[in-house]
Amino acid sequence: MNEKKLAGEKAAEYIQNGMTIGLGSGSTVYWTIQKLGELVSQGLQIKAIPSSMETERLAKVAGIPLTSFFEVNELDLSIDGADEVDPTFNLIKGGGGALVREKFIDSFTRKFIIVVDESKLVTELGSFPLPVEVIPFGWEVTNKTLAELGCIPVLRKENDDIFISDNGNYIVDCHFPTIDDPISLHTNIKQLVGVVETGLFIDMADMMIVGKKDGVEIVTKKGIDEGKPK
Ligand code: A5P
Repeated sequence: MNEKKLAGEKAAEYIQNGMTIGLGSGSTVYWTIQKLGELVSQGLQIKAIPSSMETERLAKVAGIPLTSFFEVNELDLSIDGADEVDPTFNLIKGGGGALVREKFIDSFTRKFIIVVDESKLVTELGSFPLPVEVIPFGWEVTNKTLAELGCIPVLRKENDDIFISDNGNYIVDCHFPTIDDPISLHTNIKQLVGVVETGLFIDMADMMIVGKKDGVEIVTKKGIDEGKPK
């Protein structure tokens, strides 16, 4: 079974009529978008704010009505993937380069559900290089200041070109040996002048849907849930 599909589709069960939702990015949320498209065609009335141009494109194709923070100050629910999740629900995100807008929708929401397959679950963050969005101006200097925090910073490329985020910025993938104090690390990186945002999502997620070979597991901060939408 496709574990990402199981997790992504399950998340759609938490979306109720009338909600305004945040749509994350990536290959797991892709399945949430497809499922929501079906539900919308059957009469579900929702509006969504996409976290990336790609999600916006997918949502439009699926027929999901879109809105923006011009009209809405807070979302009812956000659904987003992750690159790593630790046991306290701290996340590394940004593998797809959408971390800034993702952090925005995942911050201004009443509830944030993570959708992942089992491979994303880790005991400690850091095997996945930490994505950091930086402004292009002076990125070489920002890279040096990132390295002083103990990582090997690698400017993200796409084919042979520099990867450009939806916000027109660069992404530096920071290879730390381990991340044993994600809160301090986020704070230290965030205060560097050229940094826009880090891919550390600390204490933001409320619930996690894990796609497994034999089904899905719903995990809340209190432990395993019975798997029914509330
Ligand atoms: C996008 O920038 C990321 O934060 C994604 O949410 C994350 O990489 C998860 O992607 P997949 O669901 O494709 O694994």
